[in-house]
Amino acid sequence: MITIEINKKKVEAEPGETILTALKRAGVSVPTLCHMSNLFPSGACRMCVV
Ligand code: FES
Repeated sequence: MITIEINKKKVEAEPGETILTALKRAGVSVPTLCHMSNLFPSGACRMCVV
């Protein structure tokens, strides 16, 4: 497990988990366009910047 700090808030993330998934679980809102939870992350639109 690793700890991410965003907006002065500490967020725990599991190995292999995306930053976006960890942030969403912690209630941090991240705008997305191309992210679909049932597909492999592509990082195509650059909206989320994670
Ligand atoms: S939502 Fe498109 S790159 Fe993250």
